[in-house]
Amino acid sequence: MIICTGVGPGHLDFLTRRAAQLIAEADVIAGFDAVVNVVRELIPAQAQVILMGYRDQVAKLDQVALEHHAGKKCVVLFMGDIHFSGFQYLERVERACGHPVEALPGISSAQIMASRGKVCFDETTFITFHRRGDLEPFKRHLSHVLADGRNAIVIPCPWDFMPKDIAAWLLEHGAAPHHAVEVWENLTRGDAEWRGTLAECTGEFTDMSIMLIRTLAPMPSQIEPAPQP
Ligand SMILES: C[S@@+](CC[C@H](N)C(=O)[O-])C[C@H]1O[C@@H](n2cnc3c(N)ncnc32)[C@H](O)[C@@H]1O
Repeated sequence: MIICTGVGPGHLDFLTRRAAQLIAEADVIAGFDAVVNVVRELIPAQAQVILMGYRDQVAKLDQVALEHHAGKKCVVLFMGDIHFSGFQYLERVERACGHPVEALPGISSAQIMASRGKVCFDETTFITFHRRGDLEPFKRHLSHVLADGRNAIVIPCPWDFMPKDIAAWLLEHGAAPHHAVEVWENLTRGDAEWRGTLAECTGEFTDMSIMLIRTLAPMPSQIEPAPQP
């Protein structure tokens, strides 16, 4: 058996009970070091832990797939929620196993950001640059999102396309300098927050940061209903 699950944004209060149960019953726990560390205290002493990094993830996932095919209960851990910036890793798990695998949702840093920034996802688009491959189509999409009058919650690409680079790119491509921007770091684990405008977003942030770029247009939820005649 193999199952993939998100572990939430970092604090165990945001780990789902289902994920905690799967971890407690697992023979094999696999994931990137920082993600496994989030749930380290819940991992049973007898479980095998397979840690990996960007360079060796394919080989390590092959090892997890072998254990799965040998009948072990394997749980692969994802940061936050699999469905937010997690599909390239999910594809690697499925490629190693040779078949689709079950994916359980978790709570994403994007959801915590939406909550901290009090923005509604109906009026907001999520975009990640934390991916392999060509970022240009995603940059253009971000530009269109703002032009369409929507908020954007953006995961930067460490360290190639960080908040200051995203802001600079948008300004070069015609975005208004006075878009309100927030950058949040280490959400649920001590939260650091920066607020300013797109033009002011020139500082350095860590790789555990997520960005909110607010629309200039009033959101449907902020528009007063017209008085009844
Ligand atoms: C590969 S993406 C995975 C996102 C994850 N699937 C999620 O739902 O949050 C990793 C990036 O998410 C962002 N991130 C994840 N957890 C965060 C947190 N607690 N606070 C701020 N940013 C976070 C950071 O930009 C980090 O580099």
